Amino acid sequence: MSERLEDIAAAIVANGKGLLAADESSGTIKKRFDVIGVESTADSRRDYREMMFRTKDAMTRYISGVILYDETIRQKAADGTPLVDIIKASGAIPGIKVDAGAKPLAGFPGDTVTEGLDGLRERLADYYKLGARFAKWRAVIDIDTTRGVPSATSIGANTHALARYAALCQEAGIVPIVEPEVLMDGTHDIGTCYEVSKATLTKLYDELYAARVVLEGTILKPNMVLSGKKSGTVDSPEEVAAKTIKLFRETVPAAVPGIAFLSGGQEDEEATANLNAINAIGPHPWKLTFSYGRALQAAPQKAWSGKASNVAAGQAAFTHRAHMNHLAALGKWKASLEQAA
Ligand code: 13P
Repeated sequence: MSERLEDIAAAIVANGKGLLAADESSGTIKKRFDVIGVESTADSRRDYREMMFRTKDAMTRYISGVILYDETIRQKAADGTPLVDIIKASGAIPGIKVDAGAKPLAGFPGDTVTEGLDGLRERLADYYKLGARFAKWRAVIDIDTTRGVPSATSIGANTHALARYAALCQEAGIVPIVEPEVLMDGTHDIGTCYEVSKATLTKLYDELYAARVVLEGTILKPNMVLSGKKSGTVDSPEEVAAKTIKLFRETVPAAVPGIAFLSGGQEDEEATANLNAINAIGPHPWKLTFSYGRALQAAPQKAWSGKASNVAAGQAAFTHRAHMNHLAALGKWKASLEQAA
């Protein structure tokens, strides 16, 4: 396939395909495995991810790329094949998480800043050799209006880091997935999420321009505009779609080829229904698809539960969720398709 950044970015969001975010750090995947009663070891993490990457139907039809963690991009399947080769054989593009996580921002209680710029040029060169053609960096913007969170300083520091990361990626021939996640964990209402997301994306595109990042060779990975989980409100897909698209029309240049959402703690079907509603009110200047972690993996993790005898069930669950989200990326999903399955 083409090595031009613009072509890689276009391929990531083409034809209703989306990304599988399988880049959980060792700490996060342990939490997921705790839920299904599986011990997290290098081998169990490998077995689980190998099961996903070998799911032919899902990988060839619905998944354009996989975001990997440092351990996984270097790991081999049980038969010795590099996991990266299994992903490539399915036609999907390997990607890599390169940030070092969100750390407390000094002087701003409740705010974080994502670290990982030091040595990034060298790490990107290494990941390119290992097969990565896109990368991910996640900035975390929490909302707590009682404490003035997020501060303008946090939005500034996080978007500046995203821009420096994105420029280094493009220098290395790697498409940057730019992820400024406004968390849905709080008690805030949907209007507050819209305002904070708008301030964040406005600043983000200022910073990307200033850093001379070529927008045609980037993908945005944002949150949807939603009420906080602890607000007690679950918004209708129509409201989520209207507010999310209004936000992007105001802030995301049309030069950006694609927007691939994180799921952020939405229920599986909620994440699908909202993506579908967003595409149903198109056409839009950008492709809008999924880059889900939890909303693609919760069902297969449960079905698998660490047993080799459950691999087929895990793969069926993955194929179903990937299929549903593929339809949603085309605006062709219906709730009745969930019951039929
Ligand atoms: P979730 O879909 O579980 O939010 O994860 C996506 C992701 O990659 C967050 O960085």
